[in-house]
Amino acid sequence: MAGKIPQPFIDDLLVRVDIVELVDSYVPLKKSGSSYVARCPFHTEKTPSFAVTRNKQLYHCFGCGAGGNAITFLMEYSHLGFVEAVEDLADFAGVQVPRESGSAPTKKNNAAEVFQLLEQAASFYVEQLRDNASAKEAVDYFKSRGLSGEVAREFQLGYALDSWDALSKRFNAQQLIDAGLAIANDSGSVYDRFRGRVIFPIRDRRGRVLGFGGRVLDDSLPKYLNSPETSVFHKGREVYGLYELLSKNAKPARIIVVEGYMDVIALAQFGLGYSVATLGTATSKDHLELLFRFSTELVLCFDGDKAGRQASWRAVEAAFPCLRDGRQIKIMQLPAGVDPDTLVREQGLEDFELRISSAQTLSDYFFERLSQGLNLNDMEGRASLINKAKTYLQKLPNGIFQDLMQDKLKTLSNVEKLDFFKKPTTLKALSHKQKQADKKLSPIRIVISLLLQNPDFIEIIEQKKIKWAMINLAGADLLKQVVEIITQHPNINQSQLVEHFRGQETEKYINIMMNHDFLISDGLREEFSGAIDILIQEGKNSRFNELNTKQKVSDLSTNERQEMLSLMSPK
Ligand code: UTP
Ligand code: MN
Repeated sequence: MAGKIPQPFIDDLLVRVDIVELVDSYVPLKKSGSSYVARCPFHTEKTPSFAVTRNKQLYHCFGCGAGGNAITFLMEYSHLGFVEAVEDLADFAGVQVPRESGSAPTKKNNAAEVFQLLEQAASFYVEQLRDNASAKEAVDYFKSRGLSGEVAREFQLGYALDSWDALSKRFNAQQLIDAGLAIANDSGSVYDRFRGRVIFPIRDRRGRVLGFGGRVLDDSLPKYLNSPETSVFHKGREVYGLYELLSKNAKPARIIVVEGYMDVIALAQFGLGYSVATLGTATSKDHLELLFRFSTELVLCFDGDKAGRQASWRAVEAAFPCLRDGRQIKIMQLPAGVDPDTLVREQGLEDFELRISSAQTLSDYFFERLSQGLNLNDMEGRASLINKAKTYLQKLPNGIFQDLMQDKLKTLSNVEKLDFFKKPTTLKALSHKQKQADKKLSPIRIVISLLLQNPDFIEIIEQKKIKWAMINLAGADLLKQVVEIITQHPNINQSQLVEHFRGQETEKYINIMMNHDFLISDGLREEFSGAIDILIQEGKNSRFNELNTKQKVSDLSTNERQEMLSLMSPK
């Protein structure tokens, strides 16, 4: 892990990029009045309610309530973490992300060294395959599996000599161990992990080598050996072939998920360049989220054996929480005893693509599998189906897909009403509620919304000399926070302002108020000033009531009595 990204850099970055240009490069925008609009990428809709505003440097969807600044957009759209989103945004702006020194520098060096060594090892394995006389066996093996030189180069395939120290005698032992390339035995001597195996480098989406898979050339076991988990390699989060796929197409219409290295390579050899493989592990939610960053449709295509069928079902289970509107998972079942590698070789690309296009939808697959062995003609069978489906469907995010699954279950079970779904707490529902509440906005909400939208109104607050201690209404803390931020950062813009609330409980609320549409556009200053006066008056009233109550049960101090008198007099 590198050091923290300095806040001033983030503030500067948000000024440097134009959110309209950024969003437009992902979702083509059309100008409409003072903003730019498109159909919302975060929910399914027919007419555009997604707006990007240049002067605010914010986006907002009036349909589903999604909204935020350029960083939020990248986090949501590309499913990135905060740091990744800042990195992508910096890439977009053509600047380098600086890191604060001091935090975990040793770890940083270590990761950089590990990556460098992995890259060197990958090149070494490639050289060996190409130049070493003893690699003939490996070359023949790849040929026997029908691979062209071109595909071998594309996937950077290599060969690890049948030697205990081909790497160990060239590179630093501890670094090799850290990179997962060597093993230390009990007596402390170090030997190469991969020996006498053809080598498949595993790269991340940016092309950095993270680890390797190695296959024996004969029938010995284990057939495949993979790098262990290291500081840079996490099998549950990486897939094989993603870098190669993205090099060919950054936004593929679909991605095929297969089980094996050779499946990905054989498909690529036959001209299907959009498959990836999980790395000998079960398909995880993280895998799926990673892939959904690049495509809206994932097709699971596992081997036609018992293990493959189990893997499909487990992947579908893992997929439930990821199934938002606009995302689709399909299941392509292969004939018994066949894997994608053999299938594409035997039947060709056209047949394979035909099978992709007739892959089962997740909902069909799910209910078919769940209904197996149940008699849906009798009550018990249907009740049992509902019971089994319940736990899964509850995991689905609210939205069109959940509705569809619910409808399907109703039809199959012949039940009119199912009441076990989450109450809609979607943003859509929230923003609807918000619209209702807007009819009578409380003064504190008026103040917060207007201040967020017009940070220069801070001068009005300064003139009023507010006694904050007196304002103990709900929302006062948030208002104080907004005031403090604006005071400390004169000339702050709105997209920078929302950035200060990232990750806080109030983030969503800030976004809503930032985008609240005031019906009037003139006289906002007066509206603001008036609302503050009401806040001050409400504060006085509540203090007066407090003192008044106290007076009935005990004596007031001299100060308190004076305070009460002053509160009684009109200002
Ligand atoms: P398979 O045994 O289906 O591999 O395992 P495959 O792709 O059909 O192999 P070939 O065609 O004989 O070369 C699928 C995946 O499971 C992992 C590997 O990632 C492999 O690609 N695996 C398999 C292991 O990690 N270790 C093993 O011993 C076997
Ligand atoms: Mn296989």
